[in-house]
Amino acid sequence: MTDFKRTLITSALPYANGPVHIGHLAGVYVPADIYARYLRLKGEDVLFIGGSDEHGVPITLKARNEGVTPQDIVDKYHGMIKASFARLGISFDIYSRTSAPIHHQTSSEIFSKLYQDGKFIEKTSEQYFDEETQQFLADRYIVGTCPKCGFEKAYGDQCESCGTSLSPTELVNPRSMLSGNTPVLKETKHWYLPLDQYETWLKEWILEGHKEWKPNVYGQCKSWIDSGLQPRAVTRDLEWGVPVPLEEAKGKVLYVWFDAPIGYISATRELTPDWEKWWKDQETRMIHFIGKDNIVFHCIIFPAMLKAEGSYILPDNVPANEFLNLEGDKISTSRNWAVWLHEYLDDFPGKEDVLKYVLTANAPETKDNDFTWKDFQTRNNSELVAILGNFVNRALVLTQKYFHNVVPEAGKLTENDLTSLKSLKSLKNDIEKSLDNFRFREALKNAMDMARLGNKYLADEEPWSVVKRDPERVKTILHVCLQVTANLTIALEPFLPFSMEKLRGFLNIQKFNWSDLGNTGLLPAGHHLNASSLLFEKIEDQQIETQVQKLQATKMANEAANAGVTPAKPSINIDQFGAMDIRTGTVLAAEKVAKTQKLLKLTIDTGIDTRTVVSGIAEHYTPEEMVGKQVCILVNLEPRPLKGIESKGMILCAQDPTGKLVLVKPESLVRNGSEVK
Ligand code: 2FM
Ligand code: ZN
Repeated sequence: MTDFKRTLITSALPYANGPVHIGHLAGVYVPADIYARYLRLKGEDVLFIGGSDEHGVPITLKARNEGVTPQDIVDKYHGMIKASFARLGISFDIYSRTSAPIHHQTSSEIFSKLYQDGKFIEKTSEQYFDEETQQFLADRYIVGTCPKCGFEKAYGDQCESCGTSLSPTELVNPRSMLSGNTPVLKETKHWYLPLDQYETWLKEWILEGHKEWKPNVYGQCKSWIDSGLQPRAVTRDLEWGVPVPLEEAKGKVLYVWFDAPIGYISATRELTPDWEKWWKDQETRMIHFIGKDNIVFHCIIFPAMLKAEGSYILPDNVPANEFLNLEGDKISTSRNWAVWLHEYLDDFPGKEDVLKYVLTANAPETKDNDFTWKDFQTRNNSELVAILGNFVNRALVLTQKYFHNVVPEAGKLTENDLTSLKSLKSLKNDIEKSLDNFRFREALKNAMDMARLGNKYLADEEPWSVVKRDPERVKTILHVCLQVTANLTIALEPFLPFSMEKLRGFLNIQKFNWSDLGNTGLLPAGHHLNASSLLFEKIEDQQIETQVQKLQATKMANEAANAGVTPAKPSINIDQFGAMDIRTGTVLAAEKVAKTQKLLKLTIDTGIDTRTVVSGIAEHYTPEEMVGKQVCILVNLEPRPLKGIESKGMILCAQDPTGKLVLVKPESLVRNGSEVK
């Protein structure tokens, strides 16, 4: 490692078009936070930058769908994301946003500098245009069939089914997201960063110079570079974003992936007047924490922008993670298949560290991983409670019991005492090595090994038995246990900050430095401890069951929503439709059909007569709910016997997104017997 004076940690700016979920946390924010806390504990000069990415087409589309402005959308989610990160204890030095004026200023300045230095190429090309709404259709404003895999809802910039990055003109059967119409091609001028001109430099800088980057990151870079880089448009015909600072570019904004990474710079600038020290001094080491879908932007495009600008440093490492799945399925905001951070925090108060622990222990560092609620429960109960909590609790309770909460004096140390205490140093080295190489799950395991060591030591020494024959020896045993406990407050501080604060409270100590880790005299004899309680609590089956059921309900809703759209049936003519005699009627009486789950027997005034209809809606409506309801009924359906009752007709229902049957009925009350046509 080259010498450096400070470390700038950036974490990908989440889009402010939805709340954050466990996939975001496991991929980016939890590892970045651990790293920031670790370096701070080492006394290094660190800045940890975060913020919301508030531009881009998904935000404008969402605003349009909800009938509000893009600013309304980002205000809502920026507030929500920022608050939930704070509750989880993600220790950003600043959490900014890209709609902030300082960001508009910073990204405009960088664009202007590149423009003035002739770093862009200008190109007029034909792009899709929606004639009805008079708009160019950038990125996600256009959908069509993926030319690679045939997926019918591929976006203009990417197919989410096969992951291929696309340009709008590659889509088969393109459609406008605004009007649904087939767009036309129209000329428009844009500014491009000629990435092809940076190919040689990128080869040298990454492929030769950063062989130490994680294999998934290095591999993706190599594959992009080897397949040849193309000029990349950095402007768009859109209204929402940072306006292109050129007279001739009215109505155009910077491409979201041009301005978003500049957000790291703007946030630093917002935080400190000394921002240039963090961005322009070669002795600053910059680390980008991101998910794997952001690799090309952080390893190729943003560095090319910085290189073109000329005065900025480049990232030293980009420890991107793979993806986290949820219960065997890809996390998806649109399908609501996620564990949302704000909901977790409400459902599991005081268990912020548990989530961080589980997401780190199971981090998708080298391959995609799966989060399951069962694993969450097991890791809490069998690791945090049974290993860490158990050791700490026994050390504290025994000290309370035998020595009235005062750290006892150590006598002559045995071989086992010495070996156990010596292990603290070697574990420190292991943890450091893992953290320095961004191997957070391994680091956490090493740190938990310290608690395992404590449990083994207690099991070997059995102070509860020894006390009967050699109380002096128990002093030494608990002295050793308390030194291990004090060391745990350091080793686990980056991972479990709330719990270690609590533990420091029990031990009546201040925060130690990282360099104190391995020190076997952290708690001097005679030091008074405070009263303690359990560090972690068991998570009961019922809590897990509630979460699993929540996901089950989502799954059913999705299935019902998908199943609801069956293919169109063959055409019929008006006479065939006219042959159906559908009338309005009112339910006079309703009762469950005995020995069935689904059937209700309804007595209906059809305006023509009063008749019996057996309907399969008992799981969706109670008999009491049905009485008095006006319904639509097909009255000329051949009578048929159902469970011994002659059913004369059929009432009309539709299925809501959760799969529930809902009655189809006139919008306002009409006379019974009125024809539905
Ligand atoms: O993929 C995303 O969620 C992007 N909003 C990440 C942006 S990272 C940085 F460039 F701002
Ligand atoms: Zn595809």
